[in-house]
Amino acid sequence: MAPVIKTEKITHIYSAGTVFEHTALSDVSFEALRGEYIGIIGHTGSGKSTFIQTLNGLIRPTSGTVFFDGTDIRQSKERTRDIRFKVGLVFQYPEYQLFEETVFNDIAFGPKNMGLNAHEVAERVREAAGFVGLREDDLEKSPFELSGGLRRRAAIAGVIAMRPEVLIADEPTAGLDPAGSSEIIANIGAYRRSTGATIIIVTHSMEEIAQNADRVTVFDGGRIVMDAPPAAAFSRSDELSAMGLGVPAATAIANRLRARGLPIAGGIITADGLRAALRELRRGAGSA
Ligand SMILES: Nc1ncnc2c1ncn2[C@@H]1O[C@H](COP(=O)(O)OP(=O)(O)OP(=O)(O)O)[C@@H](O)[C@H]1O
Ligand SMILES: [Mg+2]
Repeated sequence: MAPVIKTEKITHIYSAGTVFEHTALSDVSFEALRGEYIGIIGHTGSGKSTFIQTLNGLIRPTSGTVFFDGTDIRQSKERTRDIRFKVGLVFQYPEYQLFEETVFNDIAFGPKNMGLNAHEVAERVREAAGFVGLREDDLEKSPFELSGGLRRRAAIAGVIAMRPEVLIADEPTAGLDPAGSSEIIANIGAYRRSTGATIIIVTHSMEEIAQNADRVTVFDGGRIVMDAPPAAAFSRSDELSAMGLGVPAATAIANRLRARGLPIAGGIITADGLRAALRELRRGAGSA
């Protein structure tokens, strides 16, 4: 299958030629398939936010090329503009960017920019609000009347309202409690299920990756150093730990049990997987 997003050796240097010069990305080549759910992890400063902003053209890499559906996103002005709608980007703490008088108008901002008529805009707003669980009466409120979690969801709805083919979010659950975090993840999952969109999420939560991602891409020092299904990536816990990254709790427990000599299976990344392995172990012990 042809990738929907592809980067070919992108390098990004901030403030080139000044004393603040900093290489944030080096030769990053990456592909995302349609419908894939990709988790991006990496230590602070490893280049994650810089990278995702190159994917919708917000940051123009110093060198290298970003492709959408096989075509350079810089091929023409129209194309570069179009990509902003096809590749939706939710910034970190996006609720700080709500500025309209009503939630409705905030969510409508993107679709209006796309040139849709009032009827289509209203339809997009209602649809996006539905994905994130905002109620009809929330739409007429000021964003500032909403709770923190709902405000975050309203901001995500503003991106979903453009019906992006690729939805990218930079730490969408940062600062939320566990319940608020699972709701956001469920909202994003619902959007993906109903549209077949590709999801790319930057996160510090290995549990989130274990439960949702098809693939995990690990950044270190501006480079991709690992790109594998979660079970394969988390089996390399020593390498991850050397980069200051952890593994899901279930993986850590399985590793500890194995170190104590218990013949516990590899590839465990969720609580369910751990439970099944322990049951298996007990059954084995019973039959011995
Ligand atoms: N506007 C900028 N000017 C100069 N350097 C920058 C700029 N933005 C980011 N950097 C630097 O580029 C590197 C990569 O930053 P980036 O924000 O992409 O990392 P990150 O992986 O998203 O980190 P975090 O986990 O803290 O969000 C860091 O060293 C950062 O200090
Ligand atoms: Mg970041």
